[in-house]
Amino acid sequence: MEKQIKAMREKIEQAAAAIQDSKEMYQLRKQYLDNKTGQISALMKNMRDLTPEERPAFGKIVNELKTWALDFFTSQDARLKAAELEKKNAAEQIDVTMPAAPHSAGALHPNTLIANELIDIFAGMGFTVFEGPEIENDYYNFTALNTPKDHPARDMQDTFYVSPELLLRTQTSAGQIRVMENTKPPIKILSPGKVFRSDDDATHSPMFSQMEGLVVDKGITLCDLQGMLDVFAQNVFGKNVKTRLRPSYFPFTEPSVEVDVSCFSCGGCGCRLCKDTGWIEVLGAGMVNRKVLENCGIDPDEYTGFAFGMGIERIAMLKYGIPNIKMLFESDTRVLSQFSE
Ligand code: DAH
Repeated sequence: MEKQIKAMREKIEQAAAAIQDSKEMYQLRKQYLDNKTGQISALMKNMRDLTPEERPAFGKIVNELKTWALDFFTSQDARLKAAELEKKNAAEQIDVTMPAAPHSAGALHPNTLIANELIDIFAGMGFTVFEGPEIENDYYNFTALNTPKDHPARDMQDTFYVSPELLLRTQTSAGQIRVMENTKPPIKILSPGKVFRSDDDATHSPMFSQMEGLVVDKGITLCDLQGMLDVFAQNVFGKNVKTRLRPSYFPFTEPSVEVDVSCFSCGGCGCRLCKDTGWIEVLGAGMVNRKVLENCGIDPDEYTGFAFGMGIERIAMLKYGIPNIKMLFESDTRVLSQFSE
C-alpha cells in the first residue's frame, strides 16, 4: 500500500514539473484532489476492502498524502503565478525615454478666426457685440428694414419660412432693428451670426455667417463709414489696401453702397483674383434709411447713422485663398488644420 502511495506522489511531482501554466496546474490538482473524481479521494473508497484493524493505518497514510498534496499544489500555484506576474510586468514596462506620441492640438475654424479678428478690430473702435435670434420675425428681418411684404427687394434673398410670420433670418441686419428699438443713440454695435438662404453653389451655401455693423449718432456721415472700413480693410487684408464705394441699392440704406477693396493679391494691376479689375467686392453698406430710424423711434432729423454687412465666409475665402465655400463646411481636418491665428 505504501508503495502505491509513494508512486502516486512521484507521479504528481513529475506531472507538476512539466507544467508551466497555473491553469494547467489547477487541472492537475483537480485530477487528484477533486472530492468526487479525484484519485486521492478514490483511494479512500478502498477502505471498504480492508479489515477493521488495517483501516486506521490506511486512513492515516491517505490523509497524510492528501495534506501533502494540498501543500504541494498551493506552493506550485504560488510559483507559477509569481512567474506569470513577472512576465506580465516585463511586457508592460514603459520606456520613459521614448519620444511621446504626437498629439495635434485643435485649431479654431477659419470662420471663427475671421469673426474674432473683425470683433477685435471694431472693438478697438468702440463697438460692442449684439447677437440676435436665428429664427426671426418677418417684421425684424424685412418689414422694419423698409422691406414690406410686397417689396421687390424681398426677391434678393430666397427665404426659408417657418410659418407665415417666422423665418430663418436671411441677414444679420435684423439685429439693427432689435438694438435701435431698445437703445438711445449713440449706438455702435457689431452683430455676428448665422443666416440662411435657399442658395447653393461654389460661393453660396444655404447657411452662412454674416457680420453686421451699425453706428447711429448725431452728425454721422458716409465719410465716417469709409474711415472705419479703411481701418477694417487694412487690418484684414494688408496695410496698403484702399477702399472704394460704388452706388448700390438696399431698402434699409439711402444712399446704399457696395464696398470694394483694392486687390491685395496683385496690388491693383489686375489678376485672376480680382478678375483683372484691380478691385474686390467685400461688403454692402450705406446710410441708415430715414424710414428705418423712424420705425425704431429714432428721430432722423436729429440722428444719422451708417450700417454695413459682410459675409464671413467670403472674407475667409478671399483672405485664405479658399476656392469653394463647401470646404468651410465639410469638417475635413486636412483643410482646416492649415489655418491658425
Ligand atoms: N443685409 C445685406 C445682405 O445680406 C448686407 C447689407 C447691406 C447690410 C447694406 C447692411 C447694409 O447693413 O447697410 O446682403
